[in-house]
Amino acid sequence: MPAIGLGVYQMPNGILTQKAVDSALRYGYRHIDTAMIYRNEESVGKAIASGFVPREQIFVTTKLWNSDQGYDQALKACNASLVRLGLSYVDLYLIHWPVHGKRQDSWRALETLFQEGKCRAIGVSNYMVHHLEELLGYCKVMPAVNQIELHPYIYSSRIETIDLCRRTGIIPVAYSPLTKGIKLRDPLLVKIASGYGKNTAQLLIRWALQQGFAVIPKSSVTSRIADNFRVFDFTITAEDMAVLDGLGENLATGWDPAEAL
Ligand SMILES: NC(=O)c1ccc[n+]([C@@H]2O[C@H](COP(=O)([O-])OP(=O)(O)OC[C@H]3O[C@@H](n4cnc5c(N)ncnc54)[C@H](OP(=O)(O)O)[C@@H]3O)[C@@H](O)[C@H]2O)c1
Repeated sequence: MPAIGLGVYQMPNGILTQKAVDSALRYGYRHIDTAMIYRNEESVGKAIASGFVPREQIFVTTKLWNSDQGYDQALKACNASLVRLGLSYVDLYLIHWPVHGKRQDSWRALETLFQEGKCRAIGVSNYMVHHLEELLGYCKVMPAVNQIELHPYIYSSRIETIDLCRRTGIIPVAYSPLTKGIKLRDPLLVKIASGYGKNTAQLLIRWALQQGFAVIPKSSVTSRIADNFRVFDFTITAEDMAVLDGLGENLATGWDPAEAL
């Protein structure tokens, strides 16, 4: 899985998303993160179909939404996503949220889709330790990734989940890595980032990479899409990593799955 992907949450289905994905591919991204519930799979598919980069070189993730959970529904939902994307397979299909009472049947469906070759890999999102432990008890195919909110302001609250992922070979994927923009002007971040001649978004993306996470920043602005990929020419020192690791304030910018049964 390419370590940086373009997230397309809250991008409308239409030309804006298509252009953002197209720009990302032109700037070197090879990984796009969408979901049924983002309602822009068609636009992602159109950008891929334009052929600037061959499909097999692009890593496409989409996700199973809560209302589609359950065995039969999940099979149908994945097929519908493939139709909207105009693809014969996705590289990664995720259970978007650990819906209580349904997630085991949904996982069985993902295993079927994996065996059918419709998903090259399967995984989960928003799974905390208790959800993962339950899944590890019944899965026949190991989840490849767990996509969760990860940035320095939530990191300390997610350490147990990250440790369990690392021990079991599940790759943590950092969503909302830029805190949805909330912390990009934090003076401490600005100070550390300027020491490397970088902006705060680049610092947060680099922090995620150095933690060993895959990371999926969202932007619909071409210059920012480009900037967010320029993170391979500097290294955050161990001292600065420790400062960033210590910024935890349990900042969940979306629903907090720690409260999900
Ligand atoms: N699995 C899940 O439950 C889940 C939940 C949330 C998100 N996600 C995934 O993770 C992706 C990223 O998370 P996110 O969309 O919540 O938020 P994010 O990537 O943390 O932040 C996006 C915000 O930052 C701004 N931004 C981006 N680059 C910037 C830059 N260089 N300078 C200044 N501002 C910048 C964007 O504005 P502009 O667009 O105007 O640049 C947007 O407002 C999503 O798109 C989605 O694919 C998954």
